[in-house]
Formats: sequence, C-alpha cells, structure tokens
Amino acid sequence: MSFLLERTYGLRPNYWYIPENEVSTGAQNLFFESSPDNETQQFLDHSNNISASFFWQTVRNIGVMILSSIYSKTDINGMTGFGNMFLFSEQQFANFLAIDRQTWRANNKSVLDLGAGNGDITEHMRSFFDNVYATELSPKMRNRLTSKGYKVLDALEWAKTDVKFDLITAFNLLDRHYSPGKLLEDLWINAHRSNCNVVVSLVLPVNHYVEFNPNGKSTRPDKFLNVQGRTYAEHVHHMIFNVFKPANFEVIRWTRLPYLCEGDMSHAAYYLPDAVFLLKPIIPEPTATLTAEEIATTKPPVPETVHEDL
Ligand SMILES: C[S@@+](CC[C@H](N)C(=O)[O-])C[C@H]1O[C@@H](n2cnc3c(N)ncnc32)[C@H](O)[C@@H]1O
Repeated sequence: MSFLLERTYGLRPNYWYIPENEVSTGAQNLFFESSPDNETQQFLDHSNNISASFFWQTVRNIGVMILSSIYSKTDINGMTGFGNMFLFSEQQFANFLAIDRQTWRANNKSVLDLGAGNGDITEHMRSFFDNVYATELSPKMRNRLTSKGYKVLDALEWAKTDVKFDLITAFNLLDRHYSPGKLLEDLWINAHRSNCNVVVSLVLPVNHYVEFNPNGKSTRPDKFLNVQGRTYAEHVHHMIFNVFKPANFEVIRWTRLPYLCEGDMSHAAYYLPDAVFLLKPIIPEPTATLTAEEIATTKPPVPETVHEDL
C-alpha cells in the first residue's frame, strides 16, 4: 500500500505511520503502529480527481476570493464544502481503540466530537455509536454538522451537559483552542463523570493558532502547551509527560497518522504529521501540598467500574 501511495502521487509515505526520529523509551512503550488501507487510498484518489479538475478549481478560487473578505477560512470551507480532511478509516479507528467489530454494538452508545469541523473525521466514527454529538465555533460548520444529523451542543457550554458519553474526542482542536488548559480540564471532568476515555489528536510539532477566540481577536491561546524541542518525537514525549500527565490523563497508547487535506491546483493532496492519543482520566495522587479532603472537593469521586469497551 505504501508503494501505491508513493507511485500515484509522488508523496513519500515512509514516515506517515512511524516517527522519523527516535522517540523516548517512555513514548515508544506506548506506541501503536497504524498502517495504510484502501480508505486512505480512496481519499487520495478523490482528492487527486478534484485537484485535477480545472472547473472545480476555478469555482473554488473565485469563491474563496469573494468570500475571504467577509468570512474566516474555516467558515468558507464550511460553506463551499472544499478543504475536506482525512485522518483515519473506520478500520484504523477500530484497531486503535481495540474495538472488535464482530461483537461491538452501537446501541445507545454516544460519542462527543469537539471542534468537529465539517464532520469529515466524525463520519468515520458514526457506525460505532447510535448518538453522535458535536461542537463547533464556526457557524457555517455548525450548519454542516446539523445537516449531517449530528446533535450540535453549544461550543462554550458543552462541559455543563449531563449527557453521559462512551467516548469524547477532540481531533486537531487542542492547538486551535483559545484555552488548551480549560479544554483539558473540561475533558477530564466530563470523561470522569461519564466514566469513558478520550481521544485527542494534534499535528506535531505543536503550532498554536486560534481562529475563533471568544475572548478577543488574539490568535494566541491564553497559555501555551508545555512542550519543548523542535521535532515530532520530542513533542510526543512532552505531550505525554508534560501535558497529559499533569492534566490527570494516563496515555493508554498513541499512534501516528497522516492528517490529509484535499488538494488544489498545485498539489494532489496535503499531508501533516498527526499524533493521536488514547487517554484515560485518572484520579491524581494526593500530594504533600493537597490534603485528601481538598482533592475530594476539587475532583469528582472515583468511578465504581472501569469502562472496558474503549
Ligand atoms: C483544525 S480544525 C479540526 C476539525 C476536525 N476536528 C478535524 O480534525 O479535521 C479545528 C476546528 O475547531 C473549531 N474550533 C476552534 N475552537 C473551538 C472551540 N473552542 N470549540 C469548538 N470548536 C472550535 C474550528 O472552527 C475548526 O473547525
């Protein structure tokens, strides 16, 4: 399959599924290797057809030129349907979450996808859950999500919902969020309350850019993620030990996947290196500075059962 991807598009997928530099032993021990499949190839074929179509590219360029004076890039993609993304196929998602598709039942199961964009990535989780909830700050993207049949929650108030989820996901949102710390905190509280796991992905090395900031016009978050170094491998390590661990998430496993974007007149497709983390909310160890009583009052109680499906 790798051979086919390379031959077809001149893309070099050698490092699409494995880090190009050596990762720390701690990160390596948690690594799950994904592999390419037919759905990935189909996305690239479709992308190649769109990018080769003079008609669609002309419509796109004129549309973007007119709309960009009024709308954000994300809103324009929401309106026009361009800029479709691909992160994983259903089978890659099932493999990463250790879902046995023979025995898995979607009955009454709910997933919440935060910052779902136009729902391209969400779509690949749909068959595993009866109820698909989503949030978005772009009004045009919210319309797209509603038209696809997702239940759209308020992007700034979702953490107050009393819906219990079987999985909460945030694909490529953490580095786009106005407050990554608040996002991690809300994820922890809701995952703990629902007794479920969380999947977070982001492009590495981290590069913050806030397009929708309810606190003003800044494109910088209120606080940067605590990552050091310049490489994908270094940032994976820091995400696990400096970001997720202090936020009381245990990394169950992580994988590397190509985050692919539909091409334009110059390229058949675009590729970004994504890291996808499967996280479990844990109760923080009591420390010398916090009494057991303080911990009990700042965090919800320990769940009675552990979620075993995901
Ligand atoms: C890079 S895109 C990722 C879209 C999709 N999840 C994916 O992986 O392709 C980030 C999305 O998050 C949305 N967004 C940014 N801040 C948000 C927030 N605080 N709450 C909900 N959505 C947000 C943006 O509008 C954008 O559609």
